[in-house]
Amino acid sequence: MEWYRKMNLVTSVIFPKWINWLPLAAGIGAVLLGGGVTAGVTYYFTPKYTRVGYEPVQPVPFSHAVHTGQLGMDCRYCHNGVEKSWFSNLPGASTCMNCHSQVLKDDPRLAIVRESAKNNTPVPWVQIHKTPDYVYFNHEVHVQRGFSCVECHGRIDEMDEVYHAKPLSMSFCLDCHRQPAAFIRPVDKVTDLGWQWSTNDVEAATLQELNGKKFVHDWKVESLQSCSACHR
Ligand code: HEC
Ligand code: HEC
Ligand code: HEC
Ligand code: HEC
Ligand code: HEC
Repeated sequence: MEWYRKMNLVTSVIFPKWINWLPLAAGIGAVLLGGGVTAGVTYYFTPKYTRVGYEPVQPVPFSHAVHTGQLGMDCRYCHNGVEKSWFSNLPGASTCMNCHSQVLKDDPRLAIVRESAKNNTPVPWVQIHKTPDYVYFNHEVHVQRGFSCVECHGRIDEMDEVYHAKPLSMSFCLDCHRQPAAFIRPVDKVTDLGWQWSTNDVEAATLQELNGKKFVHDWKVESLQSCSACHR
């Protein structure tokens, strides 16, 4: 048998004739169900496909890779509210001017920052991560209990421009709420995004399992799955 005839046989077994009806039937179904289908699609697909990768152009080409990766600045130098409140603030222009009143002091890329610092107005950064209003979120509880920025934001320290790296959908949140021991780490390593228990993967997994259980037990970390934990 020639290869294409073989292929034909294979495809006709995998995709029998009646399957050709499927698109039409599905189309009719969609029209009949209308709203239901749209709602389902929004529920299951919105977070993953439209949010992950969202990378708006910012008014100033600020690079986390330069400031945290190369210069080694800690996240809390700029986001100093992150372990004290539900909100992780963005730095004001005066924080940037701590250095940029000297470094690159006449660079055109920093014109907006100089202007903002002088007039005491915020830099118009475009917000990237945003949970819907009906979801309650709190940075402090996570950061204080040993859950790293990297779990929810990815490798920010390697990004020139911040993009939305994780879905932050309900199932994403619940994946960790069901088994916090798999993600918990020493509290002083929370802003060290590339940190691992060991460079050997097998050893790292063993240590995570051992220490994860221990931390969760010793620190009385809860596994919050009831709806009211996040929808209040
Ligand atoms: C020198 C100050 C500075 C440091 C240090 C810094 N950031 Fe930022 N961060 C900013 C600024 C300014 C923005 C807003 C512009 C942007 O998105 O790039 C921002 C934005 C972000 C955002 C996106 C905010 C949004 O709109 O959703 C996240 C997440 C973030 N930073 C995490 C981190 C993490 C994690 C670290 C430590 C590894 C860190 N940052 C270190 C200044 C800083
Ligand atoms: C602790 C000092 C320090 C702080 C604080 C700081 N920067 Fe920088 N920044 C630097 C240094 C050092 C460089 C690299 C200078 C060079 O390229 O020669 C730099 C580079 C830059 C550049 C050039 C981009 C690039 O890729 O090289 C921009 C834009 C910038 N910073 C914006 C900011 C903004 C906005 C803030 C406040 C949110 C800020 N910086 C806070 C030290 C700092
Ligand atoms: C458990 C998940 C989680 C962890 C851990 C986490 N974040 Fe966030 N972050 C979020 C969510 C969700 C939002 C959107 C919050 C909102 O809608 O206000 C957010 C928003 C932000 C923002 C934008 C400003 C804001 O609060 O809306 C910054 C900046 C930020 N995070 C920085 C950090 C830094 C720095 C760390 C680590 C020290 C960190 N985050 C750890 C989930 C997390
Ligand atoms: C990497 C693990 C992890 C992820 C991801 C995570 N959480 Fe949590 N979260 C926890 C743990 C563990 C606790 C319980 C902390 C404790 O015992 O105090 C918690 C607690 C909370 C609380 C309770 C706060 C309070 O004040 O009672 C809320 C609300 C919450 N998380 C919302 C979220 C939402 C919304 C998301 C997704 C955007 C999320 N979490 C993602 C681990 C995580
Ligand atoms: C760990 C936090 C967390 C818990 C616990 C949780 N949710 Fe959610 N829920 C979320 C987040 C985050 C979203 C928003 C997802 C998004 O942005 O698309 C959400 C969205 C929803 C939505 C809206 C879906 C839509 O159409 O967009 C419903 C309905 C919902 N949750 C119901 C529940 C119910 C019922 C429970 C209890 C069984 C529950 N949630 C428990 C975090 C949580």
